[in-house]
Amino acid sequence: MSKSKTITLEEKHGANNYAPLSVVLVKGEGCKVWDEDGKEYIDFMSAYSAHNAGHNNPVLMKAFLEQAQKLVLTSRAFYNDKLGPFLDTLCNVTGLDMALPMNTGAEAVETAIKAARRWGYRVKGIPENKAEIIVSSGNFHGRTTTIISFSSDEDDKTDFGPYTPGFKEIPFGDADALEKAITLNTCAFLTEPIQGEGGIIIPEEGWLRNVREICTKNNVLLILDEIQSGMGRTGKNFAYEHEGITPDGLTLAKALGGGLLPVSAFVARRDILELFEPGSHGSTWGGNPLAAVVGKVAIEYMVEEKLSERSAELGAYLLEELKKINSPYIRDIRGIGLWVGVDIDPDKISAKEVCMRLKEAGILAKETAGTILRFAPPLVIDKALLDESIKRIRSVFAEI
Ligand SMILES: Cc1ncc(COP(=O)(O)O)c(C=O)c1O
Repeated sequence: MSKSKTITLEEKHGANNYAPLSVVLVKGEGCKVWDEDGKEYIDFMSAYSAHNAGHNNPVLMKAFLEQAQKLVLTSRAFYNDKLGPFLDTLCNVTGLDMALPMNTGAEAVETAIKAARRWGYRVKGIPENKAEIIVSSGNFHGRTTTIISFSSDEDDKTDFGPYTPGFKEIPFGDADALEKAITLNTCAFLTEPIQGEGGIIIPEEGWLRNVREICTKNNVLLILDEIQSGMGRTGKNFAYEHEGITPDGLTLAKALGGGLLPVSAFVARRDILELFEPGSHGSTWGGNPLAAVVGKVAIEYMVEEKLSERSAELGAYLLEELKKINSPYIRDIRGIGLWVGVDIDPDKISAKEVCMRLKEAGILAKETAGTILRFAPPLVIDKALLDESIKRIRSVFAEI
């Protein structure tokens, strides 16, 4: 099937809810992907950080294939022998007590919202239907009707109302605003520790520690969405480790599925998650044995292969080298771990145009928040390939 035919079919029969770069990928291995003409690219996108362990990772793939041939889905109507060990690993690595497995990131966030509200009513004593959750401006937590209700991005929300009430927005990274916004009916503060879709927005050092203190003092749950920042991306297993705190609840997805299948979870303290009883929440596929095996191996691989250390070391190098580019088209460069945002001056060139030029040079990246190039290669990338990538990025800016 020719390239144009593939794209034509997708455009004819698929809803127009994405604006992909014009490349049709057919194969992936490690940090590289290939299109249908055999052209090779370095993946600087990692499927929005789902591929931290690289495409087709042999360790993860072996575990996946072995389990796929044995038992894939039981539903939670019965126990399976893989879920318990997965939850145990998840709790040990996060320092939390219990986990509720789901599939996609948005489902994990929905689970967190339900858990926080229930805790608010049953433990904190908030009057019925009055629970409030405070969220950050510029957030991205997914696309369900409830989640878009507290998005600050109009594109996410337009003509999808009526919106779910019960959310209050404060500026991202502003601990004073959090303290002021809390009322007796506040059950939780839900935030990304570092905003990914928002454009790799890194708050000031100390903010999360302050937030932790404010939440504890006011009996408000701190729920961190580490769906994108977690699993080694920022140079620690989880971004909250940079500030030496532990949240009360945590959402994980993306790289938890090892780039092989959707695996997500809401992980939390026991007094929060024990409030669910049979029938109060669930998912046909959530906690299936195949996902449980992959999730467990993805965590073990991250720890054993020291992916976060790699991310910290190579990320610092990438940031330093990119800062040397010194192009008038770049307004700002910031990053943490192998997660770098390059802010392109839209008056001079669009970030999308830069992505198209990078694609020609064999680097796949995608703009976010309009003007930001997000560079997030798999964490298994080695120095030689990173150097090759930097060389190509540099030459694209030189050509522009
Ligand atoms: C921080 C964060 N939360 C939630 C989500 C939603 O995850 P999913 O697309 O798997 O529903 C994303 C996806 O980009 C995300 O970055």
